[in-house]
Amino acid sequence: MPKHFLSVDYFASLEAVDELCELARKLEPVANRECRSTLLEGALLGTLFFEPSTRTRVSFTSAFSLLGGSVIDMGDKQSSSVVKGESLDDMSRIMSSYVDILVVRHPEEAALKTFAETSRVPLINAGNGIGEHPSQALLDVYTLLKENQCARLADLKGLSIALVGDLKHGRTVHSLTKMLSLVGNIHFKFVAPPGLEMPSSLIELLQNRQNTVTQTADLVAGVAATDVIYMTRIQEERFDPPALFQQYVGKYAIDRAFYEQYCLSQPILMHPLPRDSRLKNPELNADLNDHPKLAIFRQAWNGLPTRMALFCQLLVGASLAGAQYRAL
Ligand code: NCD
Repeated sequence: MPKHFLSVDYFASLEAVDELCELARKLEPVANRECRSTLLEGALLGTLFFEPSTRTRVSFTSAFSLLGGSVIDMGDKQSSSVVKGESLDDMSRIMSSYVDILVVRHPEEAALKTFAETSRVPLINAGNGIGEHPSQALLDVYTLLKENQCARLADLKGLSIALVGDLKHGRTVHSLTKMLSLVGNIHFKFVAPPGLEMPSSLIELLQNRQNTVTQTADLVAGVAATDVIYMTRIQEERFDPPALFQQYVGKYAIDRAFYEQYCLSQPILMHPLPRDSRLKNPELNADLNDHPKLAIFRQAWNGLPTRMALFCQLLVGASLAGAQYRAL
């Protein structure tokens, strides 16, 4: 069975994450177009997105192309045979016979596992409903290392991170906290309105791994004395009925005035994006765009080298670990 990347559980240890980050660092010149790579020449990536995506889809596509591979966009929900009633099982068997690796996003949490059962090629989870978004966690952790000028994840011990917003439905925060919890001695501060809190099973896991967790609904208290603030969008598409979403709109918002008044520890500002710019009071205001602590654009760029590293590991794995990686 091919090796899939369905969850951050893919990484059995801290060192395994470090290894991938190290490879991503080596690939930065390729991501920056400072040198060319033909590492994946002849290889085919298939992308299947049954939910909207801009950054994730484009950065996976770009990462694969920059390594010399070719990409086939296998379409979205509307244009695929799903609308004719095709099962995920059939789709997986067939699509995986056309390409060497698949990147799939699906609104149902269980869909990726079903897909993986019959896929003949490695499968990357690009978001399964409210479940996980493991490649986002990888680029987030890579961003934390770079922003804090740390070489290894263990150097992040003692870090305090406030995660704010829709922690119930936000798959990015589920994956990120799980991955970071491998470090130990991380202080997680969860800031969410009642009803959108972090799932208790996840909190238990973080604590079992020797991290501390505090929870509050108060943004000012939550962001005090923290090293990082990770803002999230209220996941409008997950509310049933959709009108329920309205009660949370604009509840948690950080703009320059708020940052200057309450974020006295000068925390790094992160967000997986997209931020909801339709709102009068967006969760992360554009008036912070040129603030040196705003890492969101660097964070999004980090999706390129980390996803390149992931492709290398899944497709060429151990056989490339020596000579060819070093030649990059
Ligand atoms: C996130 C997602 O799809 O989960 N976006 C992304 O991939 N960077 C976050 C979101 O949609 O709010």
